[in-house]
Amino acid sequence: MITLKSPSELARMRQAGRIVATVLALLQEKIAPGITTGELNELAEETILKHKAIPSFKGYRGYPAALCVSINEEIVHGIPGPRTIKEGDLVSLDVGAIYKGFQGDAAITVAVGEVSPTASRLLEVTAGSLEAGIAQCLVGNHLGDISAAIQNYVEARGFSVIREYTGHGIGRKMHEDPQIPNFGEPGRGGVLRPGMTFALEPMVAVGTWRTRVLDDGWTVVTLDGQLSAHFEHTIAVTDGQPEILTRLDG
Ligand code: MF3
Ligand code: CO
Repeated sequence: MITLKSPSELARMRQAGRIVATVLALLQEKIAPGITTGELNELAEETILKHKAIPSFKGYRGYPAALCVSINEEIVHGIPGPRTIKEGDLVSLDVGAIYKGFQGDAAITVAVGEVSPTASRLLEVTAGSLEAGIAQCLVGNHLGDISAAIQNYVEARGFSVIREYTGHGIGRKMHEDPQIPNFGEPGRGGVLRPGMTFALEPMVAVGTWRTRVLDDGWTVVTLDGQLSAHFEHTIAVTDGQPEILTRLDG
């Protein structure tokens, strides 16, 4: 079942979202060649705790950190550790927090210094596909409208959408029904109503959408080793335009 959030629940979703957005803004400021992914994770965890929130990823199905850091051909769920960020890396940062029982979940991908033209195009297209998906989060639309908008935006620009990982409902739990694939057919699936809250998260690849999981049991990489990017926002469906809960000032 899809849960509808009351105004007071939405207020807590907003606060959780704001904490997540604050963490990502800080990480974006601090990321640079030489910093380790483990240091980024510590910053994320400290910042979440400082805001009296709980890092939702830590311990989720045994995941060992507060942050996912996925570099270059890594798509999602990269585990932070001793690895050092390098000039030219394309780095996805994904973080979640629980505030007063409600969840926020968001991701950005950051280009570290100079990256290839393909990498910067991939960033732009992935971010644009998230905006295209959000624009469909209107009362009366179908879930398939969101999926199709993301897929069409990406494929019209020559990239592919990852199919084995999806967006999701979110609320008291990080993953609630429904799943929101980044591909699909307009007019299919459930109808959107005010008070629904979703995490939309297009993962986009330069080459194949096929993936595999590394031996660490978590890190998802592209099967062909080509670049991938990932952006995510938690949003609320309202009577008007969708509200982006994980964006600072808006
Ligand atoms: N944004 C990701 C998701 O919705 C993050 C989950 S990572 C995990 O699935 F470690 F918590 F699993
Ligand atoms: Co998510």
